Amino acid sequence: MSHPKTPQAGIFNEEASHFYFLEYRLKKPCEIQKIKKAILLAKSAFLDATASVVISLGAQAWHLLQPEWMPETLVDFIPLYGKQGHQAPSTQADVFFWVSGQEISVVFDLALEIHHAMQSVAELALQERGFKYHQNLDLIGFEDGTANPKTEVLKRDAAVIAKGHAGEGGSLVLSQKWVHDLDKWHALPVHCQEAVVGRTKEENIELEGDAMPDDSHISRTDLKRDGVSMKIYRRSAPFGTVTEKGLMFLAFGCELVRFSSQLESMYGLTEDKKIDQLLNFSKAVSGSYWFAPAQEDLDALLTE
Ligand code: HEM
Repeated sequence: MSHPKTPQAGIFNEEASHFYFLEYRLKKPCEIQKIKKAILLAKSAFLDATASVVISLGAQAWHLLQPEWMPETLVDFIPLYGKQGHQAPSTQADVFFWVSGQEISVVFDLALEIHHAMQSVAELALQERGFKYHQNLDLIGFEDGTANPKTEVLKRDAAVIAKGHAGEGGSLVLSQKWVHDLDKWHALPVHCQEAVVGRTKEENIELEGDAMPDDSHISRTDLKRDGVSMKIYRRSAPFGTVTEKGLMFLAFGCELVRFSSQLESMYGLTEDKKIDQLLNFSKAVSGSYWFAPAQEDLDALLTE
């Protein structure tokens, strides 16, 4: 029996407090071998045992570099037009590097090395620096990541494509930059903020029964299919300056439909047409789907 493939280690690096998000669009025309060499060079820029890089590719880039097989369900991000005028734009790019680590100096050096390696073959489409804010709070003041799977097995079940499926050992990935309107948010009394999120702010307890609105963030995203929870593994991080700030939403999943169903539910593209109340306080300004191949598949892709 063959061994299961190895997910890229950085996906599960929960010790990290600093992050760098780099998304690239490949220049055209560009030689395939040159692109592979650049990504390989970026991948080798591993400076410290406390930092890691997860490399993901968009559907078109994957098809260009590995025409022999496609990870199951991978498509480009499709923009969403919500029922009340909210939009989730697609800014689909080709290669995504997610750097995480304990020291900002190391994370920043890694980002610089990656950019140095990539700039001959690709244009930078998005860069953002993320950070851990207090005890894993989002800038709206609520803890983010609470309902994430906790054990190694549950994390893998949620985040990694199962054995026997194309792309096994890899993950489907959703990255989205969200810009918050914190003035509007802070003008809201805490009990109303709690109704928007679906959890209490101080004790971080999920609202129950009639106290949980249908249009809270939790109600719109805690979805089940045939009675089974469609869990994803979120690794989002706050970002920003005093002027523009928000959340770099990042999640790993075993199937893409988990992301698309949650997004459709948030934007009211469901039978009940209700939108996630969070959309009135935060706006998606980017959106891409990616595939983070298993370590073995990434190595094969870059060296063949
Ligand atoms: C402005 C952007 C967002 C903010 C500030 C935000 C914040 C939060 C917070 C505070 C929680 C509750 C604590 C927790 O379990 O982590 C949560 C839960 C969750 N969020 Fe988000 N989120 C955002 C966007 C998204 C998006 C785009 C998705 C999916 C596509 C998503 C999926 C989820 C899921 C699945 C849960 C857990 C639901 C449960 O099982 O209880 N979030 N989010």
